[in-house]
Amino acid sequence: MATITYVDAAAHPRKVTATTGSVMSIAVQEGLPGIVGECGGQLACASCHVYLDPAWADRIGPPASELEDEMLDGAVCERTANSRPSCQIPVGDAVDGLIVHTAATQV
Ligand code: FES
Repeated sequence: MATITYVDAAAHPRKVTATTGSVMSIAVQEGLPGIVGECGGQLACASCHVYLDPAWADRIGPPASELEDEMLDGAVCERTANSRPSCQIPVGDAVDGLIVHTAATQV
């Protein structure tokens, strides 16, 4: 089980507790703003782009794969060193307490 905090572009935090899925799928399920998940987690759209909170940047491993890297290059919002496709972050004990910041838009 993990509690994940999604902070939207207006700095409004929303906490969600989940046991399965991905950081993207939980956000879509909960109707949270800033994450679309257009391809359903197939790593083909970048509409699940999030910014890892700096405290988590080194704790979410491994680093983005080459394919994740390519997807993020096509993201609508500016990419940073903490950018990750949230569909590639599985929910579980390892991400309990995770904080992600969502982009202002994905379209
Ligand atoms: S949901 Fe499409 S790349 Fe993550």
